[in-house]
Amino acid sequence: MLETIFLNKQFSNPIVLASGILGVTGASLNNVIKNGAGGVTVKSVSKEPRLGHPNPTMAGYEHFFINAVGLSNPGIENAILELKKFKELSNAPLIGSIFAGTPEEFGWLAEKICEAPIDFLEIDISCPNVSREFGDPFAYSVPAVEKITKAVKEKSTVPISVKLSPNAWNIDIIAKAAESSGADAITAVNTISGMTIDVRARRPVLHNKQGGVSGPALFPIALKCVYDIYRAVKIPIIGTGGVTTGENALAMIMAGATLVGVGSAVYFRGVEVFKHITEEMTKIMEEEGIKNLNEIRGCVHL
Ligand SMILES: Cc1cc2nc3c(=O)[nH]c(=O)nc-3n(C[C@H](O)[C@H](O)[C@H](O)COP(=O)(O)O)c2cc1C
Repeated sequence: MLETIFLNKQFSNPIVLASGILGVTGASLNNVIKNGAGGVTVKSVSKEPRLGHPNPTMAGYEHFFINAVGLSNPGIENAILELKKFKELSNAPLIGSIFAGTPEEFGWLAEKICEAPIDFLEIDISCPNVSREFGDPFAYSVPAVEKITKAVKEKSTVPISVKLSPNAWNIDIIAKAAESSGADAITAVNTISGMTIDVRARRPVLHNKQGGVSGPALFPIALKCVYDIYRAVKIPIIGTGGVTTGENALAMIMAGATLVGVGSAVYFRGVEVFKHITEEMTKIMEEEGIKNLNEIRGCVHL
């Protein structure tokens, strides 16, 4: 009922782990599959290992989560070892993820990460938390998106998905630029820029002061991004942002998503959330007489 074909690859269900959550080791990625995800995305990796920002880097609230992890990761060489470990443990689809400061470095990393047994490659050009180091996210600029997409496409041996920012007011135009530069898919969206303040301490909560907001509060924003992108491009979309329930996941698919990314919901509902979401989807589909997801994909556009 939930089987999904994404860029010629079969997924047992459309729910995939979003990048940056539980996604650093082969064992933790496999644990997510065991808990019901149809596929996994690894934490974004850079050329060299990165420590990220000083603590506190994360805070959870009733309706949202905020982080400024600062893309801490073990570097490409270590990441490749973990990706290989994952494929020894599981046959489930694996999405690699890279980020870099220049188109040339993105191209280099794309070639390198394809030494690992990944099925797809996501390009993170939309992290809102590293502007001081890298400048504004590339995902705000059509020429930058074009350059990076072309550089990665030239070197990648697997299909690529460009991950966009909900902060870009023209996300549909940005998506179109990625498509015409060779992207095979779009991941929408990354976190949205925000901040929280500890009133008693009279200080921002995060050491980095600002961070990326995810979780339920992001959901309607992400849904509208997917809706707009679906109208602009023909390539498939990984709808990500605030999905916490089966009902949210079905709404993403009705807006036009093929796969649905889930990250912060792990904070709200535990790692079992993948199983809960797929069960909730199945229940609603049975109640509504929906036999498969192709029947409803993009249906709100009719
Ligand atoms: C702690 C944390 C770390 C993240 N790290 C990454 C990352 O390394 N690369 C990336 O593309 N997105 C990263 N993201 C963004 C998520 O993949 C996702 O796009 C975003 O959180 C919205 O989905 P959600 O509301 O389901 O979490 C991170 C999010 C969180 C909460």
